[in-house]
Amino acid sequence: MTETVTVRVPAKVNVQLAVGGARPDGFHDLANVFLAVGLHDEVTVTPADELRVTCAGPDAGQVPLDRTNLAARAALELARRHGIDPAVHLHIAKDIPVAGGMAGGSADGAGALLACDTLWGTNASREELLDICAELGSDVPFSLVGGAALGTGRGEKLRLLDVGGTFHWVFAMAERGLSTPAVFREFDRMNEGVRVPEPVASQDLLDALAKGDAGALARTVSNDLQPAALSLFPALADTLAAGRAAGALAALVSGSGPTTAFLAPDAESARAVGRALQDSGTCRAVRVTQSPAPGATVLG
Ligand code: C5P
Repeated sequence: MTETVTVRVPAKVNVQLAVGGARPDGFHDLANVFLAVGLHDEVTVTPADELRVTCAGPDAGQVPLDRTNLAARAALELARRHGIDPAVHLHIAKDIPVAGGMAGGSADGAGALLACDTLWGTNASREELLDICAELGSDVPFSLVGGAALGTGRGEKLRLLDVGGTFHWVFAMAERGLSTPAVFREFDRMNEGVRVPEPVASQDLLDALAKGDAGALARTVSNDLQPAALSLFPALADTLAAGRAAGALAALVSGSGPTTAFLAPDAESARAVGRALQDSGTCRAVRVTQSPAPGATVLG
């Protein structure tokens, strides 16, 4: 029997995040174009006396280690469905910023699910894994599939998208996190009394992705949560301005933030934008990377 399984899972950026009005269940309908990027968490699962979660990495202190952690919830749900004792140690090697708008928690849920499925030999179908992911959270199915996808509903119904080339990104991590529910509440507050249109994916943006055309993608990126994130975290405007001044083709808040994302025309420009952002003093840390990246993958 396999004794240890490690799964690598990517972070995401939303190149389009169109948000509809609040639904009766409190969620929002979305047209959410996810792109997986080359920042990763790794989830390692090992048999143990009882379920426990540990985490290592610069932000590890902010990660809950109880059964609210999406990795623990994923293991519990797969075990429940298959009548397995969920006695495992889940270790998260965390590189994706915590509460950063890059689906770090979702990545750990998808990673733990695939790792436990492999360790236990559950052989759950792709449909069942995606179903569990959707139960865990709106962004978790995308963490499993990676690449690029259009998420509709609350973001969990995925249509895979073609990506015709490599996109170069810089991510600026902020001094503190933002709570996703708080950002959606601020979106609702800012749109009170306004008829929010149905969220629709931009065909120009999907074409830009399919062509691998960074200039065209830069002209079409959008994030309806950005005004709400900026309202809760006004200093992010300085980070966005610093990246634009450094030559980024596009600057936007990643998902619900507060991580900011900068699209560059090539790898060398991305490194230059990264250095300028680091020197600007408007962020905590900077990462330069590429997309698309594969979804959750069992290592070795
Ligand atoms: O699905 P997930 O648990 O990741 O969502 C976290 C929170 O983000 C929800 O409780 C809700 O407040 C908000 N959300 C939303 N509409 C979505 C996705 C998330 O309002 N489509």
